[in-house]
Order: sequence, then C-alpha cells, then structure tokens
Amino acid sequence: MVAVVAAKPLIRVAALCGSLRKGSYNQGLLRSAIELSKEINGLHVESVDIATLPMLNTDLEVDGTYPSAVEAFRQKIKGADSILFASPEYNFSVTAPLKNAIDWASRPPNIWADKAAAIVSAGGGFGGGRSQYHLRQTGVFVDLHFINKPEFFLNAFQPPAKFDSDGNLIDASAKETLKEVLLSLQAYTLRLQGKN
Ligand SMILES: Cc1cc2nc3c(=O)[nH]c(=O)nc-3n(C[C@H](O)[C@H](O)[C@H](O)COP(=O)(O)O)c2cc1C
Repeated sequence: MVAVVAAKPLIRVAALCGSLRKGSYNQGLLRSAIELSKEINGLHVESVDIATLPMLNTDLEVDGTYPSAVEAFRQKIKGADSILFASPEYNFSVTAPLKNAIDWASRPPNIWADKAAAIVSAGGGFGGGRSQYHLRQTGVFVDLHFINKPEFFLNAFQPPAKFDSDGNLIDASAKETLKEVLLSLQAYTLRLQGKN
C-alpha cells in the first residue's frame, strides 16, 4: 500500500538577511532554513538579496515609480506569502541594510501589509535579541504579523562552535529550533490566509 500525504497549499517565504558580509552567521541561518524547508511539505524558502538596494532617498521616486533594483525587490516581497528575517544586532538595533530594505518596501503601496513573519538572529551575548525587538516595533507600523514563538536567538561566539569557518550553521539543537520556527511560520501564514 502507498501512503498518501495530503498536499498543503504552498507557502512561499522571502528570506532577508541584515548582514551583507560573506561569512555572515545570519546568512548561514538562512542557508540552513532553506535546507530545512525542503523537509517541510508546502513550504518554500527563497533568499532575497538586499545588497543592491540604494540608500533610501525619496528623490529617487519619480511619478510613483522606484529605481529598478527597488522595483525588483518590491515585486519579490509582493510575491511572497510570508517573510523570514535574519536580523543581526548593530548597536542594540536593526542593521542599516535591513532597515533600508524595510523602508523601501513600505513606500506606497506598503508591500509588507498583512504578511506573516518570523525573526531569527545570531550575534553576541544576547544573540541579536535587541534587534528582534526593534524589528517587531517597526513591524507594527508596516502591518507585518510576527509569530511570537519559538524565539530564536543564537550566541555565535560562545563555545562550542555553532558555525563552521564559512558561516554554515553546524549546531544540531539550533537547527531543530530553526525548523520549529519554520513550522510555526507556515501554520501562522495559513491561519492568516484563512487556509486552515
Ligand atoms: C557596527 C556594528 C555594531 C555591532 N553592535 C552589536 C551590538 O550592539 N550587540 C551585539 O551583540 N553585537 C554587535 N555587533 C556584533 C555583531 O552582531 C556580530 O558581529 C554578528 O556576528 C554580525 O552578524 P553576521 O555574522 O551575520 O555578520 C556589532 C557589529 C557591528 C559591525
């Protein structure tokens, strides 16, 4: 007998990282999330690059249109059902590249509105936690709806090593929690969309 697994509606997740550096631990979290999502029925996670976005300047908006890199970014966010942020902490807050990306997609019409979202972070003592709380506050204004739990903060500098020398996540327990975050985001997205 062949077991039949019920197909779930496909949830497309746009994954954004607030760090632009090559060996970024937070980029490593997203790579791991993409791998883990392949084990989850109905979930597809895709990385969206924010490095090419110009610094926000409303003079670059002409007759309601945006620079081409911004338009392309906004289309990718628009096409996603939900958002996964990997948000490192710079000076107790969200990094400038991530805030810049959020600001561009918030320009009219606000593309974030009514999407479900989750935040993960890796960093120093608090594992990037303070940036998460600032990001949640921004989410209030742009109408993002964050899952509350599980929380994912990872201290990247405390032994044993959580990442290899290329910034790939190697910690089994962190991977488990990361997968739980994805499952929670999937369930919350379906709930917001009235599909469960
Ligand atoms: C400008 C700057 C400010 C930082 N401020 C903080 C901070 O407030 N709290 C913290 O825990 N780490 C801070 N860090 C350390 C980063 O969070 C840490 O290097 C982290 O690994 C960066 O993420 P990434 O590995 O994805 O690039 C800061 C790093 C930079 C470059």
